[in-house]
Amino acid sequence: MKKINIAIDGYSSCGKSTLAKGLAKALGYTYIDSGAMYRAVALYALRNGWMNETNIDEEALKKHLHEIHISFEPNSQGGQDIYLNGENIEKEIRSLEVANAASRVSTLKFVREELVRRQQQMGKDKGVVMDGRDIGTVVFPDAELKIFLTASPEIRAQRRFDEMKSKGENPSYDEVLSNVRERDYRDTNRAESPLRKADDAIELDNSNLSIEGQLRWAIDMFNKITKGNE
Ligand code: DC
Repeated sequence: MKKINIAIDGYSSCGKSTLAKGLAKALGYTYIDSGAMYRAVALYALRNGWMNETNIDEEALKKHLHEIHISFEPNSQGGQDIYLNGENIEKEIRSLEVANAASRVSTLKFVREELVRRQQQMGKDKGVVMDGRDIGTVVFPDAELKIFLTASPEIRAQRRFDEMKSKGENPSYDEVLSNVRERDYRDTNRAESPLRKADDAIELDNSNLSIEGQLRWAIDMFNKITKGNE
């Protein structure tokens, strides 16, 4: 069967990566976490002192952007981890500090242009499930299947809170909720490629859906779209 590209966009902590990973596994496609790429750039900027809580040294970041090599390699759990210049940074980029920094570097036009270029390259042979904020609108405007996921901020904060707890972290729910709201605001109000549903995306509010339920729904959508495409 001819492979397609699948774009999954939506707010932070909406279950995009869970759905994208599940779909990729079920279909034998490659999963690409575009948000992890923004997080990798943010981590590099933080480590080099080019950004702090209030400022970003855009000139320095622009000058060194080409040094930031990002790759995805399979891990022992059957998923994949992100590498920054050969170092596995999968765990480090999941902190709230890096999440906030990623949300800020993702507002910069030159960062977006470079990462979009790399993402398009990764999808050129199709067979990719990519999740993010601008996949259906900018990265793969021709993706055959586009899904826009939503869920209430409270439900998303609870999911992120549970996930962090299960990893042994000790966040406060209110802090996680305000972080979700802050990122929603920034993601939808930035000048460069703000988060929005592509006109031809199918919207799914998964507030009351199980992980299996949303995967079944997405596989149904995939089957409908690829029918007659064999
Ligand atoms: O999906 P995530 O939380 O890992 O994404 C980290 C940040 O990067 C988030 O604030 C939004 C931004 N992002 C983006 O602007 N475009 C993408 N395609 C993916 C993520």
